[in-house]
Amino acid sequence: MILPILKYGAPELREVSKPVDSFTADLEEIARNMIDTMYSSPGIGLAAPQIGINIRLLTIDLSVGEDPGQLIVICNPEIVSSEGEQKNDEGCLSIPDFSEAVVRPQKVVVRGVDLKGEEATYNGEGLLARCFSHEIDHLNGVLFIDRLSPLKRSLIRNKIKKLAKAGNW
Ligand code: NI
Repeated sequence: MILPILKYGAPELREVSKPVDSFTADLEEIARNMIDTMYSSPGIGLAAPQIGINIRLLTIDLSVGEDPGQLIVICNPEIVSSEGEQKNDEGCLSIPDFSEAVVRPQKVVVRGVDLKGEEATYNGEGLLARCFSHEIDHLNGVLFIDRLSPLKRSLIRNKIKKLAKAGNW
């Protein structure tokens, strides 16, 4: 099921999400809905708070459904090590039509558990490292615009305010 994606301004996007502690059919359903929603947007990553559920669950697929081997569903992900730096344009389904260059690690090792509670570890490099970093930020209530200079951030905020005033946000 495709769900609406919360936009910048929704309080759920600013909460620190709770760890997943029960690995039930309900959790699998949430993940399935997130995958459907991510593919339909289309996007390469989605965090549960973006659909209004404040649990530590992410879906990522750099192929956007083209290659089943690239789908990642991970609960309670943590960056256990990171290396290097990259600066590239980044956007967010919750801040549509805005993108800015954001500094992220070039490589990350992410550890978490899958939908059955089994340990899962991923090595991400380049875009995958960026995506993990961005989505894990969501679980901590952090958005990519928080990582921009104050000037760039306030320019985007002001544009969003204008859009909201006009009923277009
Ligand atoms: Ni995002």
